[in-house]
Amino acid sequence: MWSQNELTERLNLHLPIFQAPMGGYTTPALAAAVSNAGGLGGLGMWGFSAEDAERRIAGFRQQAGGALNVNYPLWEDPGDLTNTSLPMRELLQAFYDKAELGPLPTPVASAGVVSPDHLAMLQRVKPEVVSFHFGLPDPDIMEAIKAAGIFVLCSATTVAEARLLEARGVDGIIAQGAEAGGHRGTFSGVDISLQPGLFSLLPQVVDAVRVPVIAAGGIADGRTIAAALMLGASAVQLGTAFLRCDEADVPDAYRLALSSANDNSTQVTRVLSGRPARAIRNRLVDELSASCAEPLPFPAQLGLTDPLEASGDQELTPMFAGQSAALSRELPAAELLRTLAEETGRRLAAFD
Ligand SMILES: Cc1cc2nc3c(=O)[nH]c(=O)nc-3n(C[C@H](O)[C@H](O)[C@H](O)COP(=O)(O)O)c2cc1C
Repeated sequence: MWSQNELTERLNLHLPIFQAPMGGYTTPALAAAVSNAGGLGGLGMWGFSAEDAERRIAGFRQQAGGALNVNYPLWEDPGDLTNTSLPMRELLQAFYDKAELGPLPTPVASAGVVSPDHLAMLQRVKPEVVSFHFGLPDPDIMEAIKAAGIFVLCSATTVAEARLLEARGVDGIIAQGAEAGGHRGTFSGVDISLQPGLFSLLPQVVDAVRVPVIAAGGIADGRTIAAALMLGASAVQLGTAFLRCDEADVPDAYRLALSSANDNSTQVTRVLSGRPARAIRNRLVDELSASCAEPLPFPAQLGLTDPLEASGDQELTPMFAGQSAALSRELPAAELLRTLAEETGRRLAAFD
């Protein structure tokens, strides 16, 4: 049975389909709908206090009885930003002026960490899975999370990164192909242009590690799920495909852009957040890129570009998405899961 393996048994899932945790775009209602339909729901913890994070997890628990994946992107504090990237700020102010959004906010430096408050919350609430992006936390935090019986995942964009993660004790690896929407999960300093697409990356990671491998990047329908399973994935993680679900907190302009995307609508760029991320090309991306002005350090740049979403204009809104955005469908999450499962079963049955 294609839908069951050691990983799905360990996490008590009916389907090897994970909904990617995507910061504030992912809601307890989305994660719960995915979980109730047999997949693994995911919630982003980025930017949420431990109290709010706990509230989000409680919201999920009220609506679902299954497993939950909570996610922490990790990064270092870039320090004082007082005089950093002034040409970029000037450019962005012109966008704010056009959209009548007032003065640009003061950039804020921050670090992405599992704070003591968050760790205590995780130990108390015990989500079934904790996943990391941009590498792993310090060994003592990893140990504390694992000691609480939580399954730990992290994204890798190359075989070398996958090997590093296995050596650090992760329970599973998310192989993130270059097609993937959102931030590249890379943490080893490897050049972005050297990171492989999923068709190359996945079987090589599967060969290199013993832990289960979850495939991510460009997966959006039964064909792509079946292909990932055939290449050795124990599960798939879909991000962009869930952005058009009713339960996702995605603005209308962004949804509209997803609905008209094609195979060459996206590019990897640093101009939206300060870190390489795949997003839909629009006037904001084009003009910031053409200027060659240096973005502020991650995620201060996003703190300045994100409010442009209030313009309601898809040319000014940051819209992270993968290369298979055109395969995404506007469906409630439960129906999307049912459709994906049915399509995958049908595809695989053709090889019997
Ligand atoms: C809008 C968006 C936001 C994302 N945010 C996160 C995140 O906060 N943490 C994370 O681990 N991955 C994040 N990702 C990446 C996903 O985990 C996954 O690698 C990616 O969505 C897979 O490619 P796909 O979008 O083609 O399905 C995000 C992806 C998108 C599209």
